[in-house]
Amino acid sequence: VERSLVLVKPDGYRRGLTGEVLSRIEAKGYRLAALSVVEATPEQLAAHYAEHEGKPFYEPLVEFMSSGPLVAAVIEGHGCITGFRTIAGTTDPTTAAPGSIRGDLARDWGLTVQQNIVHGSDSPESAAREIAIWFPNGL
Ligand code: GTP
Ligand code: MG
Repeated sequence: VERSLVLVKPDGYRRGLTGEVLSRIEAKGYRLAALSVVEATPEQLAAHYAEHEGKPFYEPLVEFMSSGPLVAAVIEGHGCITGFRTIAGTTDPTTAAPGSIRGDLARDWGLTVQQNIVHGSDSPESAAREIAIWFPNGL
C-alpha cells in the first residue's frame, strides 16, 4: 500500500495545529502508520532538504525547521502521496485554496521562509527516502 511522509512543521506544532492536521488526514481516510514528536537534527534536515541546498531560502528553511519540535508521521492509503498534497494546498499559503490545510490555517508572516505548517512527500521515491530519514529504526 502507498505511504507518504508527513511533517507538521514547527509553526504548526507551536500553534497547536497537530491535532487539526492529523484529524484532516484521518477524516480523509488515510491511516496513521507511525507518529513521532522530534527535534530535527542538522543531519536529518540536510538529508530531507538536499534538493534545495544552495537556494536562497535554504538556510532560513533549515533554521526554521530547527526552531522547535515537529511531528513526523507516516500515512498510508492508495493515492495518499498526491491526496495529502491536495489537502495540504499549494506551497505559498497566501494563495493556497480555502479548504486546504495551508489555505485555512497558514499565512504570510513577512519572513524569509514560508511557514506553511506541513510537508508531504512528492513521489514514491521521496516517500521511501524521507521515511528512512525520520523513522530510521523502521515502522
Ligand atoms: P514541502 O511539502 O514542505 O516540501 O513543501 P512543497 O513541496 O510545497 O515545497 P518545496 O519542496 O518546493 O519547498 C520546501 C519548503 O521550502 C516549502 O514548504 C517552503 O517552506 C520553502 N520554500 C519553497 N519555495 C520557497 C520560495 O520560493 N521562497 C521561500 N521563502 N520559501 C520557499
Ligand atoms: Mg517538497
